[in-house]
Amino acid sequence: MKISRRMFLKTGIAAAVGACVPPLLTSFASAAANKKVREFRFSASTAKVNLGTGPDFVAWTYNGQIPGPEIRVKEGEIIRVILKNYLPEGTSIHWHGIPLQNAMDGVPGITQPAIKPGETFVYEFEAKPAGSFIYHSHAKYQLDQGLYGPLIIEPSQSGESYDQEFTLMLEDWVTKDGAGVARTRRRPLMGHHMMGGMMRRRRGFDFQGGPLLEPLYDEYAVNGRVYPAVSPMEVNNGDRVKLRLLNSSSSTIYFLRLAGHTLTITHLDGNPIKPVEVDVLRIGMGERYDVMFTANNPGYWLLAANEEGFGQSRLRIPLRYKGVKEKEAVMPTFHRGLRFATYNEFQAFHPSHDVPTEDSRFFEQTLTGGMHSPFWSINGQLYPEADPLSVRKDQRVRLGYWNHSMMSHPMHLHGHFFKVVNPSLPREFWISKDTIIVDHMQRVDVEFVTDNPGKWFHHCHNLYHMEAGMANVVVYQ
Ligand code: C2O
Ligand code: CU
Repeated sequence: MKISRRMFLKTGIAAAVGACVPPLLTSFASAAANKKVREFRFSASTAKVNLGTGPDFVAWTYNGQIPGPEIRVKEGEIIRVILKNYLPEGTSIHWHGIPLQNAMDGVPGITQPAIKPGETFVYEFEAKPAGSFIYHSHAKYQLDQGLYGPLIIEPSQSGESYDQEFTLMLEDWVTKDGAGVARTRRRPLMGHHMMGGMMRRRRGFDFQGGPLLEPLYDEYAVNGRVYPAVSPMEVNNGDRVKLRLLNSSSSTIYFLRLAGHTLTITHLDGNPIKPVEVDVLRIGMGERYDVMFTANNPGYWLLAANEEGFGQSRLRIPLRYKGVKEKEAVMPTFHRGLRFATYNEFQAFHPSHDVPTEDSRFFEQTLTGGMHSPFWSINGQLYPEADPLSVRKDQRVRLGYWNHSMMSHPMHLHGHFFKVVNPSLPREFWISKDTIIVDHMQRVDVEFVTDNPGKWFHHCHNLYHMEAGMANVVVYQ
């Protein structure tokens, strides 16, 4: 099988994997023939890194750097990433937010076997649609060890106009060797009644290999640097500036504010919305916000974050107007009365009309966990022993999230954008996203059309919740 050999360069593996590669890929490869292919070579390996302020430590990296190299292509080009695994364990890359073909989605055990140490795997897919995305490992705790990077797809024809653009990846770090996994495991509380039931369902579960506790992060970085080692955004008075804010943190939601300026939100998870002006924006793990601002207030300012639930974090990025003399950057204040926006206040830029279908399904997704338990669940079930959401092609599927836990959960669906149900707007203006924060005791509904067959992971994008069971799969052919 010609295609499988292209994917796995080690021939012995190619034979074993050939069976899992759906025929879909064949037509994809021929379609690729007349498109421009952009090839990137990635090696996943451990490397000594430094965030600019503290000591060196060993992180898990793409090409020895954190975050991984920026992939920037034009809509419609073919992205080809040749990934060689030099890590001590299996790996993968997931192209977070891109509705690509299932075989390229990069989830070990769901869309491909883990790429073993020493193996090479080739990812290839069309860059579509334009927008701000993240790529990251989807194996174990590798996301929190440094295996992520920005993926920017520029529109084929330019629409927006701006003078400067900055991509800002927001990262939470444990600056110990091994990065995110250098911490103690969560202890079971054996007497707890809910635990008992979950434990029984999770056959053969062993606490030595059990879910990890969410770490206490000791640094928050932007593009791999901690303030004041972050290089400032340099602007001219009068510039229109576009920021691509990507939250690749494993378990931190941020409130962001830029001192001296208001931010205009233009895109959510890559999708254009009617612009909304805010003082503060909130961004969950896996979410992306594109914002614009006009540099009309010369000075030396900080874009800074409050870490949700913990107050001021050290995540800061300076904005410096060329020629200003100020030595001290001004911190934004977070006080009452600032303008926020909630999902319900956004509407799609272009009205969109789904394929009309009367064939619909509804799945209630109750989010529970925490509360003295190391597990997080959907409908009381722990992945991988969770019922799949079995649907058919061309159905309209509604997920009704209902958060009964004390924490916020950024829920993420692979392979699709969903519409966020908003009763106060006509359906064609509902916003499209792929990750949505569901807060404590909140009910949020999303809807998607089953137009991309496969087996798609669906989970909380808090890495520690995902690994502790808060996940299931959407399946159809
Ligand atoms: Cu970034 Cu399964 O997700
Ligand atoms: Cu969660």
